[in-house]
Formats: sequence, structure tokens, C-alpha cells
Amino acid sequence: MPKQTAVLLTGGAGYIGTHTALSLVEAGYLPILLDNFSNADPNVVSRLRQLLGVSAFVISPGDACDQGLLGDLFERFEIQAVIHFAALKAVGESVSQPLRYFENNNNALLAVLKAIAAISPDRLIPLVYSSSATVYGDPDQVPISESAPLRPTNPYAWTKVIGEQLILAQQIADPFFRAVILRYFNPVGAHESGLIGEQPQGIPNNLMPYVQQVAVGRREYLAVFGRDWPTPDGTGVRDYLHVMDLAQGHVRAVEYLLAGKCSEIINLGTGTGRSVLELIDAFSQASGREIPYRFTDRRAGDIAVCYADPRKALSLLGWKAERDLASMCADAWRWQSRNPDGYRQVSSAQEA
Ligand SMILES: NC(=O)c1ccc[n+]([C@@H]2O[C@H](COP(=O)([O-])OP(=O)(O)OC[C@H]3O[C@@H](n4cnc5c(N)ncnc54)[C@H](O)[C@@H]3O)[C@@H](O)[C@H]2O)c1
Repeated sequence: MPKQTAVLLTGGAGYIGTHTALSLVEAGYLPILLDNFSNADPNVVSRLRQLLGVSAFVISPGDACDQGLLGDLFERFEIQAVIHFAALKAVGESVSQPLRYFENNNNALLAVLKAIAAISPDRLIPLVYSSSATVYGDPDQVPISESAPLRPTNPYAWTKVIGEQLILAQQIADPFFRAVILRYFNPVGAHESGLIGEQPQGIPNNLMPYVQQVAVGRREYLAVFGRDWPTPDGTGVRDYLHVMDLAQGHVRAVEYLLAGKCSEIINLGTGTGRSVLELIDAFSQASGREIPYRFTDRRAGDIAVCYADPRKALSLLGWKAERDLASMCADAWRWQSRNPDGYRQVSSAQEA
């Protein structure tokens, strides 16, 4: 039997990493999940085993900043590509703990780049990098194309811009090194099984997990920051993207690189902006629950409208988002209602 192509996922036990692991297995790859569990629950591993069986993936607890560990993994598993998810991602926390964010996010990427460089050109390992739409800051126009100016407005976004620059510099230094930088818009939702989803630590930073926790009764109401934005209903507009569509985008990026194609920077979004009130309404319909909300002042640093021009992803990767807002909400609700405390309890899906 031919050996499966192994793909290393740093930060692979996190929200996007676990969903991408499912899509990679479905596409015939062997995902190797390296994670230090700084923002992942160890119970996620048994959920993955439940969905995939024990031998379809490998879990390797450890730190992506450890270049020696990365080199060992390259040797042990004949890894053909790396998807680098490992990062701290809370914008507010990055403002209060900038050094921790720069240290973790940029050192982890440096270790990955050095581990890849250490075995090049004998073995050529391409990289898929998790960047973010936050690199664009407040855009001059929407939809936002990849050539829009970069205007990071917080330390987290700066770690992503610096990460991109590290990769671009290494591409110049090593002509064999290839990478796809993916700038995601707003990933939401969960795997349709209801077994895997997003489990924020503490108070959720993002809208959808907050709405989910209000719907399930963990929080009393949702604060909507501003009702006077220059948008049709006065609330902020974002490009919400189903996490399984995003996962599929990573499979396409790996296939693109394994086919020998050249380095690129690519947006992953739906190309459609949805307001906070639209999302609340869609989630209410999906869950059958009322979502109490109150308008409060705008938050400093927020922007009115942000959505992707996704045409490059279609033309280069053959990828476009397939799932609509209703299925994002339905899948998020299935996960949240079956796992009100996240991975910490046995889900009703497991009991069934
Ligand atoms: N979720 C979003 O809204 C979003 C949007 C744009 C970009 N991104 C980026 O996508 C990537 C994945 O995001 P996510 O939502 O899955 O976040 P997540 O926190 O769920 O996953 C990140 C994982 O990386 C791990 N990790 C962090 N530092 C590590 C290190 N030094 N060594 C090993 N593991 C480490 C964490 O334990 C966690 O499991 C991140 O790079 C994030 O910045 C996320």
C-alpha cells in the first residue's frame, strides 16, 4: 500500500487545526498535530479519535518554538508539507501582553522556517501560513483584495504582518522554499457531527461564540458595539466563513503546493458581508432561541465593514465557500447545545 502523505499541523489541536485535520483525512492525508495545548483542551483528542479512529492522525504534544522537535517530526513522519496554525489569537490580550504575543507567534514561525531550511534542498517542505484579515486594518474599499495596503492596528495583527514578512524574506533567500499565506476572514461554525467546535477560554472575544453562549444561557445578553456605523442597519459588517469551508481551503492550498506551484498570498472569505443584526437573526432562527442584545458604544479600533474579494482563491486554488450563514449557525448551535461546557463534558452526541 502506498504511504500516506503526512502533513504537519502546528497548533493542530485548536479550532481551525482540528477541523482541517478532518478535511485532510477525508482527502487521504495523514495529519500530524503538534500542539502545546496553551489554548486547546486535551479532550479534543478523544473526539477526533471518535470521528477518525486511532490511526488516521498523530498527536504530538509539544511546542512549535522547539526547532529540534520539528526536525525530529520531519524525520519520523516524512512530512511533505506544514500548515502553521500555532499562535495566540486574542486581540485584546495582545494589547495587554504584546511581548508574549510577539515571542510566541513569531518565534514559532521562525522555528518552523529554520527547521524547513535545515533540510532544504535535500527535502523541500512547503508551508501554508495562517494569516488574518486583521492585517488590512480599516480598508479603503471593500471587497478587500490581496493587494490592499496592510495597516495592522494591534499587536496580534502586527505578529501576522511580521510573520508574512519573514516568509517573504525567506522566499527570496531560498529559491526552493515555497509558501501560501492564507488571510482568513471570520471563521465560525463547527463540524456537522457536533463533536468538534470552538471552545473559547473565558469571555469569548468574537461575536459568534458570544452569541452561542447567550443562546445556551451561559451569558445574559450580547453587547452590540455601536448602532451608528455607516452600514445598512448601523451595525458592523464582517465576512463570516464556515470553518469546514476554511478547512477545505487548507487542503486546496496543500494540494496546490504539492503540485509544485509558486508562492502566493490568498484571501479566504465568502465575499459577502453580514451585519451583527443579521447574524443574531440567523442564529435565532437556527437555534429557536431568542438572543437578547443591548446596544453599547463603539469599541476603540473597530471598523465598519470588512469582507473579502475571494476571486484569487477561486482562480488559483479552485476554492470557494460553499456553506451559507444558516448552516454556519445551525452547525455552531449543534456544537454549543450538545457541549455547553465545551470539551469538558461527555457530549450528548457521544452518549447517543
Ligand atoms: N479563529 C479566527 O478567527 C482566526 C482568524 C484569522 C486567523 N486566525 C489564525 O489561525 C490560526 C488558528 O486559529 P484558531 O482559531 O484555530 O486558534 P486556536 O487558539 O484554537 O488554535 C491555535 C492552537 O495553537 C496552539 N499553540 C499556540 N502557540 C503554540 C506553540 N508555541 N506551540 C504549539 N502550539 C501552540 C494552541 O494551543 C491552539 O491549540 C492562528 O494562527 C490564528 O491567529 C484565526
